[in-house]
Amino acid sequence: MNTRETLKINERGHLELGGKDCVELAAEFGTPLYAFDEAYIRKMMRIYKNTLDRVYEGRGMVLYASKAFSCKAIYRIADEENIGVDVVSGGELYTALSVGFPAERIYMHGNNKLDYEIGEALDAKIGCIVADACSEIDKIDAEAKKRGMVQNILLRINPGVEAHTHAFVQTATTDSKFGFSISDGTAEKVTAYALSKKNISLQGYHCHIGSQIFEKDSFALAAEKCMDFAAKMRETLNFTVKTLNLGGGFGVWYTDEDRKLPAEAYAEYLEALVAAVKEKATQKGLPLPFLLVEPGRSIVGEAGITLYTVGAIKDIPGVKKYVAVDGGMFDNPRYALYESKYTAVLANRADERPTEVVTIAGKCCESGDLIAVNVNLPKASSGDILAVLSTGAYNYSMAMNYNRNKIPPCVLVNEGKAEYIVKPQSYEDLTRNDVVPQRLTKK
Ligand SMILES: Cc1ncc(COP(=O)(O)O)c(C=O)c1O
Repeated sequence: MNTRETLKINERGHLELGGKDCVELAAEFGTPLYAFDEAYIRKMMRIYKNTLDRVYEGRGMVLYASKAFSCKAIYRIADEENIGVDVVSGGELYTALSVGFPAERIYMHGNNKLDYEIGEALDAKIGCIVADACSEIDKIDAEAKKRGMVQNILLRINPGVEAHTHAFVQTATTDSKFGFSISDGTAEKVTAYALSKKNISLQGYHCHIGSQIFEKDSFALAAEKCMDFAAKMRETLNFTVKTLNLGGGFGVWYTDEDRKLPAEAYAEYLEALVAAVKEKATQKGLPLPFLLVEPGRSIVGEAGITLYTVGAIKDIPGVKKYVAVDGGMFDNPRYALYESKYTAVLANRADERPTEVVTIAGKCCESGDLIAVNVNLPKASSGDILAVLSTGAYNYSMAMNYNRNKIPPCVLVNEGKAEYIVKPQSYEDLTRNDVVPQRLTKK
């Protein structure tokens, strides 16, 4: 099996996740089903936290980027593991607060936070808001003034680092909708503007250079550019950066085109970042900032799989073979969005060698509703249980009800036992907010 620790093939030839037979999972909970290995999630959180504590002497905090997978249970796990979280919407903030996640360890992102979201963040007294527009600075300042408080903020800056990743998930090039560019002078002007406000306290900067990046040098380079900028701001505006948030983006294994890193290797990303920050601090005579990192995908991505039941199989001679499953773009829109690649396994025959190359199709009324193309599988039959691997990040969180399909439930597997962390949707859930105006009611 090609992915780290969490998956294995058991003596029955079945795929196992976190010690639980996936065929049993499918039988108990039905398909489609998202399943997560709790031990793996906790392990990744600990690796990041312990590394930062060790190499940066406790002057930092790991924030789980909850956009990767947000539900009540994941915020409880993050709290128990003593890390913070980043949220990007009122909904993520609400979910975290609803299970008692400590507000001071919540950071709020977003390139266009809505007025009510800013209000909710201030009312909850969250640790920090990452501002990404001048209008947001005005709003945070005005809303904080109304409440008689001073809100800590960071500014999202754009260091212009080109990471080797899919163009759609690159966020730190100068034409990105995210961040204030360092190179064109905007970041400096906005720093001066933020410092002029009475009800916000500018703590420093945030940058996130993109996602699914394996090159340590890209992260180190972004850190260096941020520190250079911090030095410049001390020189020109007499502003000393107290906090530096270097974002997430560490790559995970989806297929054998990706690197397969043991969980422990992720420590090296933080070591590289910290080394770059420390070196620049010494070189420029800057105090070491409080350091934040925001891994999302690498914490939950490989911890999760999606189980489907194989349905229709369509072989178009000389063209391709479609294996259709009971899910689709409504539970995993990443192929439709980015042509993302995945590895699939027949969970009930995981010990069999692949014999053909197929395209896994969903059940939505879209020709682009594919989950993965050119996947190696043994000859699949209707009724087989198909597992798509590394679906823990940006699958459930991107799911939708297209074609009024029900978003699959999520189960958490721990020491061979599974329980719901997100219950199945019902048809009633799908129609709960529908309203038939009086004049349209059936007479
Ligand atoms: C601001 C910010 N931080 C962290 C992340 C998490 O990135 P990843 O899940 O690739 O680690 C993202 C992802 O888009 C982001 O936009």
